[in-house]
Amino acid sequence: MRTHFCGLVNEALIGQTVTLCGWADVARDLGGLCFIDLRDHEGIVQIVAEPDAAVDGNADVIATAAKVGYEDCLRVTGVVRRRQSVNPKIPTGQVEVVATRIEVLNKAEPLPFHAHENPGEDIRLKYRYLDLRTPKMQQMMRTRIKLVQALRRWLDARGFQDIETPILTKATPEGARDFLVPARMHPGEFYALPQSPQLFKQILMVAGFDRYYQIARCFRDEALRADRQLEFTQLDMEFAWVSERDVQDTTETLIRDVFREVMGVELENPFPRLTYAEAMRRYGSDKPDLRIAMEFTDIAELVKGCEFKVFSDWANHADGRVVALRVPGGATLSRKQIDDYGLHAAKFGAKGLAWMKVDDAGKGRDGINSPIAKFLDDAALASILTATGAQSGDLVFFGASTWKVASDFMGALRVKLGKDLGLVTDSWAPLWVTDFPMFEWDEEANRFVALHHPFTAPAVDDVADLRANAMTAVSRGYDMVLNGNEIGGGSIRIHNSAMQSAVFELLGIGAEEAEAKFGFLLDALKFGAPPHGGIAFGIDRIAALMAGTESIRDVIAFPKTTTAQCLMTGAPSPVPDVQLADVHVSIRPKEKGSE
Ligand code: AMO
Ligand code: AMP
Repeated sequence: MRTHFCGLVNEALIGQTVTLCGWADVARDLGGLCFIDLRDHEGIVQIVAEPDAAVDGNADVIATAAKVGYEDCLRVTGVVRRRQSVNPKIPTGQVEVVATRIEVLNKAEPLPFHAHENPGEDIRLKYRYLDLRTPKMQQMMRTRIKLVQALRRWLDARGFQDIETPILTKATPEGARDFLVPARMHPGEFYALPQSPQLFKQILMVAGFDRYYQIARCFRDEALRADRQLEFTQLDMEFAWVSERDVQDTTETLIRDVFREVMGVELENPFPRLTYAEAMRRYGSDKPDLRIAMEFTDIAELVKGCEFKVFSDWANHADGRVVALRVPGGATLSRKQIDDYGLHAAKFGAKGLAWMKVDDAGKGRDGINSPIAKFLDDAALASILTATGAQSGDLVFFGASTWKVASDFMGALRVKLGKDLGLVTDSWAPLWVTDFPMFEWDEEANRFVALHHPFTAPAVDDVADLRANAMTAVSRGYDMVLNGNEIGGGSIRIHNSAMQSAVFELLGIGAEEAEAKFGFLLDALKFGAPPHGGIAFGIDRIAALMAGTESIRDVIAFPKTTTAQCLMTGAPSPVPDVQLADVHVSIRPKEKGSE
């Protein structure tokens, strides 16, 4: 149908006849002279329909061009010539195509939206095919395609084996709810969609494949956000006979090489490393954004005896934390802005957000503007200034609470301040976070939950040691973080059946339940399972970072909304009773008052 792509017509083709296919991006009828911007996946080229008695049927060409509307599908034949008014904004801007024939292959109805009108995301998702046609979306999707190609090329060249694992399977706990599929042939029984290929990849190591990868779809029924979808894609990897350093060094090189190839960006070598404890201490986050230079200062020791009860109580509490965050130049913030930060911190559990403006650091108490200054004696004030390094013109925020809550809300505040005040450097900041706690205590359930997943090995080899020190046990898990996003997580696994059973037990999974849910894994570990470990990267998240967008929905062709719907197809949707009967499912009427 065509000889060239629109976006690739260039000066080398001047004088030649080309046939192009594409959509009418813009059509302008200047009365007897028509311009059409013709667009395909490669870009846009200008088509001109102008009076020329020498061309047979030229009147038809102009008449057709005059009727062209937005997004009509066209086939255009014409001669490439140098453009009089060069358009430096597009790669084809030096040339145009003088049409000798224009065919409307398919007329488009009036569009539900125009890309340049900044349409809302709902309408874009309903007519996703129109949205995806826009150069911006094409560009973002291409970044994802390039990323996946580069990952595969790298892994294939190094002997990683791409193996598919089942989609209809048994539950793998990664901390979310499962999606269930009723089993028609087994009334009352269900398959679960995989939250990740975790157990299959471990079993592939037992099965002798040594190095596995898969671009794997994962399914998790959890609350959706800008960086979370119900179904998402991992680069899933597993290695036999490795320590954590082996996995980290290999995958760090992978990520560095792929960023160089796709983005032309050289990431630090080696990536910085922080333990979980240090990341929480300095940044209040296990995925710190290191592009923001601000760090916490712990001041519990300085305020233990002060009159401000909130501070002294938490400073003396065994699980308390009192933390200060110095904001360079922050004294210019208005009262309203400061109050708004208080509201933001409240969303992360803060009961209040104390602050101190340093108008003149040389004037002691007189140079300070703060509602809590009256509760602090001169020595405490001076020691806070020294500890935080606050200078004239700075602002210091304070958070006091349990260690976890204070870390969380001050950590969230640090990121928000960084973004609002332009303190995020224009760079790439990768790092490893290591030495995570093995367990977290779940107050509501009154039991331990695994911080990574229940197959992550503890740092200690001895079962009795783990049992005795479960509260403080450290795992062999690690995350890769980039610009404040967790882009990958993995661990060295438990390869010993007795240790795996002990961890299940500590997690409140009894022997019977463990056998019913994970008996196949416990069995596999008994028959010569090699030491093994791995990692999974969130491809959607990496693609979004590379494409420069905040939302992974922009790099997924057909994503779900935050209300877990596909606006284009209308999924999820009711199904006919016969279909339900087939799979032995009946719908319980909604209980009164339930959503
Ligand atoms: P984890 O649960 O940390 O580990 O997931 C690995 C990476 O997948 C991405 N990710 C998501 N991306 C989009 N939407 C989601 N809902 C979502 N959930 C996770 C993140 C995350 O770092 N089996 C283990 C890996 C292992 O131990 O090897 C696992 O799935 O970028
Ligand atoms: P109050 O005496 O409750 O008015 O608090 C005085 C200041 O301390 C206000 O700026 C509060 O926002 C702040 N504040 C209260 N609770 C906390 C807390 N847990 N952490 C940090 N600041 C707090």
